[in-house]
Amino acid sequence: MVREKRFASIDGGELYRKLAMGDPIVVLDVRTEPEFVNAHVPGAHLIPLHELEQRIPEVPNSGIPVAVICEHGIRSVSACQLLAEHGFATLFNVNGGLSIWPGPLSAGPPSAEIGPHRHGIAPSSFLIDNFDLLPRGTALDIAMGEGRNAIYLATRGFDVDGVDADPQAVATARTAARRLGAPIRAVVGNVEDGTYIVPIDAYDVIMVFNFLYRPLFNDIRDGVRPGGVVVYQTFTSEQARLGRPKRPEYLLEPGELKKLFADWEVLRYRELVGPSRHGGPDRAVAGIVARKP
Ligand SMILES: C[S@@+](CC[C@H](N)C(=O)[O-])C[C@H]1O[C@@H](n2cnc3c(N)ncnc32)[C@H](O)[C@@H]1O
Repeated sequence: MVREKRFASIDGGELYRKLAMGDPIVVLDVRTEPEFVNAHVPGAHLIPLHELEQRIPEVPNSGIPVAVICEHGIRSVSACQLLAEHGFATLFNVNGGLSIWPGPLSAGPPSAEIGPHRHGIAPSSFLIDNFDLLPRGTALDIAMGEGRNAIYLATRGFDVDGVDADPQAVATARTAARRLGAPIRAVVGNVEDGTYIVPIDAYDVIMVFNFLYRPLFNDIRDGVRPGGVVVYQTFTSEQARLGRPKRPEYLLEPGELKKLFADWEVLRYRELVGPSRHGGPDRAVAGIVARKP
């Protein structure tokens, strides 16, 4: 009997682009743990193929697409067949697997949580949700890491600068941006020791995600042009009881961001404790979108 194929195929490049555009997708890696530890798609989750049947309840079946990846796209076909038999409707087999994956790679052990991408490739959902509030033009991403948010704005026509102190992260951001056809100017710079200085009145948008250095607040305010917008989201003091970061200098006080931009027009503000939009561990964050008068 020929089994009916009940899943689609996707190329690594297309999956990479979808993740970079913020599409919620669970990436499930069905290789062995040593293979995963050596290199994996950032944010992917590991369930080795031989354990999948027992561990199927761990795979979210809430309608979010699941993209299954292995080394060459062979084991992932068996995994897709198994998941399809268990009622998973939106399944993709990643053609050619990791061996031809065009995006960045991470190394290290798997995390216990299974959910769609957050860090690594997918942009912040706070940025996606508030995109329409941003005036088009130039943008600066401070402490951009591997550039997920900078790349997101670049794919949408912004002229984007990004800075981070970690040369490896900046190199990854540059490569990723080039591969996605979303050029950004990414520089290595430290915003704490004066090797990078935010230019004054230079940007329509300045964004900061998951980074806090209070002495920089004034520079951020000065760097935005009149009529421009700041987008800032990072952890609050509540985070200390949930996980890292725990040090008070890395955590916002309740209401702190709102106070900081009290003389600007606050377009959006939220403080929350809970999972990110598509699940995952609880985190405590505050986010603001504010327009400079
Ligand atoms: C948690 S990551 C957040 C990355 C990115 N904003 C995101 O949300 O994906 C924090 C980043 O801050 C960068 N960083 C830490 N101290 C810095 C400094 N003094 N100047 C510039 N970047 C810094 C780190 O290299 C790291 O990439």
